[in-house]
Amino acid sequence: MKKIGVIFDLDGVIVDTAKYHFLAWKDLADHLGFEFTEAHNELLKGVSRVRSLEILLDIGKVEISDEKKQEYLISKNSHYLEYINKMGSEEILPGVNELLDTLDNLGIKYVLGSASKNAPLILKQVNLFERFAGIVDGNSVSKAKPDPEVFLIGAKKLNLQPEHCVVFEDAIAGVEAANKANMISIGVGDEKILHEADFNFENLTEISDDFVKGLVKRTKAIEHR
Ligand code: BG6
Ligand code: MG
Repeated sequence: MKKIGVIFDLDGVIVDTAKYHFLAWKDLADHLGFEFTEAHNELLKGVSRVRSLEILLDIGKVEISDEKKQEYLISKNSHYLEYINKMGSEEILPGVNELLDTLDNLGIKYVLGSASKNAPLILKQVNLFERFAGIVDGNSVSKAKPDPEVFLIGAKKLNLQPEHCVVFEDAIAGVEAANKANMISIGVGDEKILHEADFNFENLTEISDDFVKGLVKRTKAIEHR
């Protein structure tokens, strides 16, 4: 069987941390005196922490000094970490463990490709850290998604060509990054939003062993083109 590798996004694919980001960003918006809704929070998915703050400040039409920005980035993250430190394996999203088992059984390696600087901590909290062959997180990249850097580093960790890598993503920026990296992109979530992905699933429970085996054949076909 030809080797393929998998790269997983974290937030929204493995765990639902968007709700904690929301609470922490909302707290800051409350402090600054403007409304921050769940719809606004959608705009922050897949986006780096610094960029998230810029988007939030744009929403509130607030201008602040770089010094203040640094201060808010730190306070938002400490607030966010209060939620993360309470997380446990019950927060792993449905279908994740089963898919990792399938990959293990087929001898397919997987790494993490996340924008989050808190990714290692989150994986440890939910007891999945040891299962991954490598971690690429917000600390390892200089360019955020939709730049393909995070996934190209992931491919290196897997020791595979990008065409042999499959990316699971819940954010538009992530699907774009995977496509730019010349990888197979799998959108997890709303197909209408993630229509640029090669394949779409509502969640990981929909992914069968046969689908994974089909991916191996597909990458083989790419190789022989
Ligand atoms: C991404 C999330 O995975 O990580 C974004 O989808 C978040 O919403 C980004 O802003 C950065 O996360 P962190 O943990 O470094 O603040
Ligand atoms: Mg995500």
